[in-house]
Amino acid sequence: MDSIIPIVMSALEDIDNGKSLRNVLRFHVNQYNLDREEESTLYYYTNEIYRKLNWIDLFIKTSSSNFSLKKIKSDMRALLRIATHMLKVNNKPVDEVVTMLEPYYRSVAQMSFDTLLELIQSVTEENLFENREDLPSKYSLKYFTYTWIIRKFIKQWGVDFTEKVLQSLLESIPMYVRINTLKASFDEIVDNLATYEIKYTPVEIIPNLIRIDETPVPIPRLDEFKEGKLVIQQKASALVSLVLNPQLGEEILDMCASPGGKTSHIVAQAGTAKNILAVDLNKERVKILTDRLKLLGAEEVKILSADARTLKKTVKSTFDKILLDPPCSGSGTYSSRPDIKWRMKQRDLNWYIKLQNALLDEASKLLEVGGCIVYSTCSLFEDENHEIISQFLKNNSNFSLMLASPMIGIESNLLENKAQELYPHLHETEGFFIAKIQKEGN
Ligand SMILES: C[S@@+](CC[C@H](N)C(=O)[O-])C[C@H]1O[C@@H](n2cnc3c(N)ncnc32)[C@H](O)[C@@H]1O
Repeated sequence: MDSIIPIVMSALEDIDNGKSLRNVLRFHVNQYNLDREEESTLYYYTNEIYRKLNWIDLFIKTSSSNFSLKKIKSDMRALLRIATHMLKVNNKPVDEVVTMLEPYYRSVAQMSFDTLLELIQSVTEENLFENREDLPSKYSLKYFTYTWIIRKFIKQWGVDFTEKVLQSLLESIPMYVRINTLKASFDEIVDNLATYEIKYTPVEIIPNLIRIDETPVPIPRLDEFKEGKLVIQQKASALVSLVLNPQLGEEILDMCASPGGKTSHIVAQAGTAKNILAVDLNKERVKILTDRLKLLGAEEVKILSADARTLKKTVKSTFDKILLDPPCSGSGTYSSRPDIKWRMKQRDLNWYIKLQNALLDEASKLLEVGGCIVYSTCSLFEDENHEIISQFLKNNSNFSLMLASPMIGIESNLLENKAQELYPHLHETEGFFIAKIQKEGN
C-alpha cells in the first residue's frame, strides 16, 4: 500500500458521521487487508485524534476565521485533524507534514496547504487557554473532555480524585482475555499462548481470566479467538457474572444481553444454558447475540427479541436471578472508546437514566421472592449507578442490598458499602459499577 493516510482519513470520516470507532476500525482492517504495521498506524491516529478531539479542533478553529471546521468537506476535516496531530502532538515541522499529506489536500477556503498549516502551527497552547478562567473549562482542555462532564465528576468526588480519573481515562488499560471453558480448557489455551510467546498473568479472584502483558500477535488474529475459545472481556465485566453467581437449575434472565459476553460467562458458570433467557431490544444486536452465543458454544440459551421494559407481558414465568446490564453513557470506557465522549450530550444522560429506571422496575416484577438482581454499568456517573439503586430501594421496601461480592473495587459508601465501584487508575480496568439487590417479599 502506498500510504495509510487515505484509509485513516476514511476511518475518521466514518466516525465523524456517527459510526462507532470500534466498528470502523474492524471494517477498515478487513476491507483493506491491512498488515500489522498499517493496522497499528490506523489505530494510533484514530484513537489519539478522538482522545484529544476538542483540543485538536480548537487549534484548527483558532488558526483562521476564513472557514468553519464544521462546514468544510468531511475529508478535509479529517486531513486537518491528522495534520494538526502531527504538528502539535508529534512535533513534526510544517514542511514534513506538507510533504506527507499534500497529495490528499484539495482546498479549504482557497488557502494553500502550507499557508494553512503555518497558521495552525502559529497557534500556541497558551492561546487555547485564553479566557478559560474556571477549573472545569481549563480541565476540559487539559484532559480532553466536555466541561459538563468535568463539573459532574468534581461534584461527585472533589478535584483530586477527578484529576486521577480524568488522567486514567486518557491512558490505555490492560487487555483481558477469558478462556471460554464451554469450548476449551484453561490448560489447553495457556499451552497454546506459550507457543505464540504471549505473556500473561492470571487474574486473582476471577477464574479463567488472564491479563495480556505482551503479545507479538493481536489476539483477534489468533485461531483460538476466531473459534470462540477466547473471549476479550474486561476484568470488571467478567466480575459481573461472578457477582450474579448463577447455579445449576436456577432460572436466569439476562435482560440486556447483546453482544453476549456476560451471557456466555453465565452459561459457563451455571454449567448449562437450559434455564437461561437472553433478551435484547435491537434486532441487529439480537442477530449479533445469536451468532456470538453459537460461536461460544452457548447456543442453547433461549433468545428473545423484545423490549425488556414491558417483558412481563411476553414472559409469564419468574426468575431466580436477573442480570440487568442496561445501556449507559459508557463514561467508564472513554480510554478504549474515545469517540463516545464527544457523542453524548447532557440530555442523553437523562434518557439513559429514564431507561435504566424502567428496566429495573420491570426486572423487579419478574423476580422470584428470595431472588436477586445484579445491576451493572460501565458508567462513572452516580446518577446512572447509586442514584438508580437508592431511588429503587426507596420505592420498593421489599428489596434490600446484598454484598456485591467478590469485591475487587471500592465499597460504595453511598450504598451501605455493599455495591462496588471500579476505577481505571485503581483497578486496572474500565470504570464500572456493580450492585446486587434481593427481593424479600411481595
Ligand atoms: C450495555 S449493552 C449490554 C452488554 C451485554 N450485557 C454484554 O455484556 O455483552 C446494553 C444492551 O441493551 C440493549 N437494549 C437497549 N434497550 C433495551 C430494552 N428496552 N430492552 C432490552 N434490551 C435493550 C441494547 O441493544 C444493548 O445491546
